Amino acid sequence: MLREVVATRYVTPLREGGSLPGIVEGDDLGTYVMKFTGAGQGRKTLVAEVISGGLARRLGLRVPELVGLQLDPVIGRSEPDEEVQELLKASGGLNLGMDFLPGSLGFDPLAFRVDAAEAGRVVWFDALVGNVDRSWRNPNMLVWHGDLWLIDHGASLIWHHNWPSAAAAADKPYDASDHALAPFGPDVAAAAAELAPRVTAKLLAATAAEVPDEWLADEPGFSSPAEVRAAYVETLAARAARVHELTVVGERSQDGPSKAPEWLKGKLPRKGAR
Ligand SMILES: Nc1ncnc2c1ncn2[C@@H]1O[C@H](COP(=O)(O)OP(=O)(O)OP(=O)(O)O)[C@@H](O)[C@H]1O
Ligand SMILES: [Mg+2]
Repeated sequence: MLREVVATRYVTPLREGGSLPGIVEGDDLGTYVMKFTGAGQGRKTLVAEVISGGLARRLGLRVPELVGLQLDPVIGRSEPDEEVQELLKASGGLNLGMDFLPGSLGFDPLAFRVDAAEAGRVVWFDALVGNVDRSWRNPNMLVWHGDLWLIDHGASLIWHHNWPSAAAAADKPYDASDHALAPFGPDVAAAAAELAPRVTAKLLAATAAEVPDEWLADEPGFSSPAEVRAAYVETLAARAARVHELTVVGERSQDGPSKAPEWLKGKLPRKGAR
């Protein structure tokens, strides 16, 4: 299970995030970016954050620590924004926290160089989890103390929104042409040789074990959270073996709309919002 922290103060909303994440302080004196169970994107984006973020960390990629954040909506009572109030009210109980990296900068490919080996590891990992949200339009990476950090894995494991499609996910191609690190010549083959053997059923099970039971409960087609966890393990293990053959880094699209589905871009009305 994730380490649990009680949110003691709601500091401010992060306006740039589509799901309206907030910055909160915890009873461990830490500061966290909080993602809410009551957000319109639903609890599955939080499950994706825990599994993909946890897997990336276990593979040695930099992802800020994830925690379970207990929220009593009363801590937001002085927040003037109605939308934030609604979100807090809809999110009492366990939410997701990510360690806030103070002073970090959004990744800018013109200002920060990534070597081909590191770019390869990130692209290979994103291909494994089918992350559609690390494009040059929305890199979802931070630079902190001179290092690259990965954030925002809510738009990965897309197949868990439609479990019958999960079996076919192992063979699904991954188009990395618009990936934010595509310009750095990602060495995906080297990353696959290094990382694929480490994605064992044991490692995946340890990662899935971190997801709180309540985010896996009552999943249609499954009789218990343990069964849902096993489905994540099985799907990712099958994909790890051959994902590098399925990854294409082609010509980047110059403009045009993001390929991320609308509901992940925060364009849909959030729960509680008009
Ligand atoms: N751990 C962190 N430390 C510092 N800043 C962060 C952290 N996590 C997120 N942020 C900032 O908050 C913004 C929104 O976070 P994030 O991308 O996780 O939210 P989201 O609602 O999923 O966004 P999106 O619009 O990409 O779907 C990031 O672009 C970044 O500027
Ligand atoms: Mg984001």
